[in-house]
Amino acid sequence: MAEVELKPLQAFPSNKLEGNVAISGDKSISHRAVILGSMAVGETKIKGLLESDDVLATINAVRLLGATVNRNSNGSYSIFGVGTGGFFEPENIIDCGNSGTAVRLLVGAVATTPIATIFTGDASLRSRPMDRIIEPLRGFGTEFHGRKSNLLPMTVIGTDEPVPQLYKLPVASAQVKSAIILAGLNAPGQTTVIEEKATRDHTERMLKAFGAGINIEETEAGTAITIDGYAELEPLEMKVPSDPSSAAFIVSAALVVENSSIVVRNIGMNPTRTGLFKTLEEMGANLQYEWVDNDSGEPLAHVHARSSDLKGVEVPKERAPSMIDEYPILAVVAALAEGKTVMRGVKELRVKETDRIKAMVEGLTSCGVRVTEYEDGLTVYGKGKGSVKGAAMVKTHFDHRIAMSFLCLGLAAEKPVIVDDGTSINTSFPEFVGIMENLGARIGSYQDNTK
Ligand code: S3P
Repeated sequence: MAEVELKPLQAFPSNKLEGNVAISGDKSISHRAVILGSMAVGETKIKGLLESDDVLATINAVRLLGATVNRNSNGSYSIFGVGTGGFFEPENIIDCGNSGTAVRLLVGAVATTPIATIFTGDASLRSRPMDRIIEPLRGFGTEFHGRKSNLLPMTVIGTDEPVPQLYKLPVASAQVKSAIILAGLNAPGQTTVIEEKATRDHTERMLKAFGAGINIEETEAGTAITIDGYAELEPLEMKVPSDPSSAAFIVSAALVVENSSIVVRNIGMNPTRTGLFKTLEEMGANLQYEWVDNDSGEPLAHVHARSSDLKGVEVPKERAPSMIDEYPILAVVAALAEGKTVMRGVKELRVKETDRIKAMVEGLTSCGVRVTEYEDGLTVYGKGKGSVKGAAMVKTHFDHRIAMSFLCLGLAAEKPVIVDDGTSINTSFPEFVGIMENLGARIGSYQDNTK
């Protein structure tokens, strides 16, 4: 939750979105690039790193842990890592801001180094559950002293005699999987994480590129990811793909605003991330992909989206991990499709930056959309393009994806939609408003004169 001055924004009904745009780097990959770079010995060079508040928090954290991070004049970053097990005890508290990925991955990274680190975050992060990482990391021998036992601020006392782990994930979470893998890098022997449902595998792909010993095997219990301990990571040069979770807003807006045709370039198309695109296609979206040869270790494509008449669908529950951050924008698209869209099996949305089920239900209802809420999801009853009234002030609960979703709704509603705060957008996609305006979207600041 924001501890800064709020800036309401409003999005006006727009005629068309048109253009060809490049967007910033993938947030998940950027966090991992900074953390793994800080655990390698020597200089890791990163092009296209996302410079959003979340990633800047991770950069600040690895600096406090002893890595050197330089921003070069061409905008690339150089990270001089300290090696696995080489982190220094930080002289100050590590503030991860709004970022669950930053804190959960960093806690894993320090868990098997004998230092004490204190983590905190903003009001949203301080309310999010940490037991999902505490429980498996305790197995290594790490000590945790959190507020109310499992909340930030939390002191993590890394162990100097780590015990390697075999752990089956009880929730489909790439953050938890990655925390355990990162802890395993500085433990003896091998650490194995088993996941039943595939979650984003950027950590695994990147570790291979850094030269770690990692083995991935299909077993009866699920996918077993085994990492060799006492890893020596070799620094590398990499280019971060553009973020499919940010592209999701532009693509979705183009589908629901009449007469639109846009291209978003070099989007990461890792199959563990592209569930939204698949769902939109099932709804009848006109999407085309131009695949781009590259050596980032991740598939890339230019994504072309044109206005489409969409119909409601039932999203398969097993698709949830591959589009977990995209349910808010899908709920907006669903409101402008014909028929009902059912999104179930997504209880995890209740513990994101805010309770995203509640935030979408409240926001859509205030814009005149019929919605049913369940403990594990929502159903949106869409009436097609042009059917949403808008004319509402939506509470974002300082959640960047709620803010961007409702601004996209405003572009295709009858009347403007106002979001109570746009500053949260800086956590993941600082150029969002500028890029949308260049494509023809009408988005502006909002002055509440009734106060
Ligand atoms: C992320 C994993 C997901 C996602 C988050 C980023 C990551 O969280 O919601 O935005 O980079 O590992 P969970 O692992 O909690 O599902």
